[in-house]
Amino acid sequence: LDDAAVDPFEVAGEAAAHLTKVTGIDRHDIALTLGSGWAKAADLIGETVAEVPASEVPGFSAPAVVGHVGTLRSIRLANGKHALVIGARTHFYEGHGVRRVVHSVRTAAAAGATTMILTNGAGGIKETWGPGTPVLISDHLNLTAASPLEGATFIDLTDLYSKRLRDLAREVQPDLDEGVYTQFRGPHYETPAEVQMVKAMGGHIVGMSTALEAIAARQAGMEVLGMSLITNLAAGISPEPLSHQEVLQAGREAEPVISALLARIVERL
Ligand code: 6GU
Repeated sequence: LDDAAVDPFEVAGEAAAHLTKVTGIDRHDIALTLGSGWAKAADLIGETVAEVPASEVPGFSAPAVVGHVGTLRSIRLANGKHALVIGARTHFYEGHGVRRVVHSVRTAAAAGATTMILTNGAGGIKETWGPGTPVLISDHLNLTAASPLEGATFIDLTDLYSKRLRDLAREVQPDLDEGVYTQFRGPHYETPAEVQMVKAMGGHIVGMSTALEAIAARQAGMEVLGMSLITNLAAGISPEPLSHQEVLQAGREAEPVISALLARIVERL
């Protein structure tokens, strides 16, 4: 995928063909990328048909990151639809090109998925969001200075995070808040000054994923639902310094609740 002569959509097609071969499912209707705190949802949405190590799927092998390869899971939902659960996210901060970052989204699209659910653990800028709060993503600020689109591909990003799907999520939990997600490259957290900049620009959530993936999903014609788990308040909003341990801990604690919420949303798709 890092070779400019390679067509990333062709690799995504090969990945989808591999999934069909090993799962026996020739069409996945929806796809979910489960970020920090959301992984349990995979066990709640339906019955696992097959689980495939990402390392054996074309384009997913990441030789630079040793011992950190996840899986792709094919799940049959109660309504008979099939979901592809992506438990192997490549982050931009790992230093790979954007093609690798969005490969799972393109694979899901090539596998037939028309709905892409993107989840993450992120920092909150609203003081009222305590650790463990799930928030719908209403729009994004892409501060990575990158794009998954190559060449003169001018696409509209209005309503990127589907209003229809956000409303459907609020049928399950009416008080679900929403906010603008801001993707930084990371892997360091933002400075308090950067957090104030985001606030002034209209952002409410800071993280290191999702926006680039959402753009690739729109390019592929998918409808996107984005959800963040607020694991901590962003730097300077909370008087406490951030710790990765605290972020992981908040994710673990919130996991049963938000995974159940996501499962109930998926039921309605
Ligand atoms: Cl405060 N910032 C970013 N970029 N990602 C995060 C975070 C903050 N907290 C959890 N993930």
